[in-house]
Amino acid sequence: DGGGALAGLSVLVSAGPTYEDIDPVRFIGNRSSGRMGFAIAEAAAAQGAAVTLVAGPVHLPTPPGVAERIDVRSAREMREAVHAAAAHCDIFVSAAAVGDYRPAEVSTHKLKKSGDAGLALALVQNPDILAEIAALPRRPFLVGFAAETRDVDAYARGKLAAKGVDMIAANRVGDGAGFESERNALHLYWPGGDVALAEAPKRELADALLARVAERYRRTRTE
Ligand code: C5P
Repeated sequence: DGGGALAGLSVLVSAGPTYEDIDPVRFIGNRSSGRMGFAIAEAAAAQGAAVTLVAGPVHLPTPPGVAERIDVRSAREMREAVHAAAAHCDIFVSAAAVGDYRPAEVSTHKLKKSGDAGLALALVQNPDILAEIAALPRRPFLVGFAAETRDVDAYARGKLAAKGVDMIAANRVGDGAGFESERNALHLYWPGGDVALAEAPKRELADALLARVAERYRRTRTE
């Protein structure tokens, strides 16, 4: 249909948590619902983009208009799916709450109670998917998320530089808005500027975010 701020562009969105298995019945996860990422995928499709959605374990239907959905569970599965899709997309919005650590070993049998000695779980760090994509010689326009419980501004600006991305969408979590809510507020940072997006339903917020992304995308491609 040709219209829309993202017409002709291919947009990859990652969403939801990752689950890192401990044994056949237990895992380490986080409180991401996937709703923000799914709202972004839906909004991008509505604005004319060809959308690929890589989803962690969530209970959400595929948004209307999304061309391709790839379901994954662990950070390493997400990494594989994102790398494959990032090779041929224009914009990657990394909204997934990727687990920073996973158990060093996955037990093939259910762990048993060990008594008073307690249980120490050895963890190893997961790959930083977004930072890996940022380091590729030919990479899409990159939008990272920063969910922080404090010092949002400082962490977000730091992340913009450290990860080498084009934009950071920061939100404060842990005080009602954010992870498990239908509403959210975001503060966007890019090299040389920032803007606060007022609290709104996630779908509306997604439209506001993508309007800025489209504007920055076109600027970086013509500079
Ligand atoms: O460093 P931090 O985890 O706060 O950065 C968050 C951003 O990085 C999000 O966009 C998230 O999707 C991405 N990320 C990632 N791989 C990780 C951890 C975070 O892609 N292992």
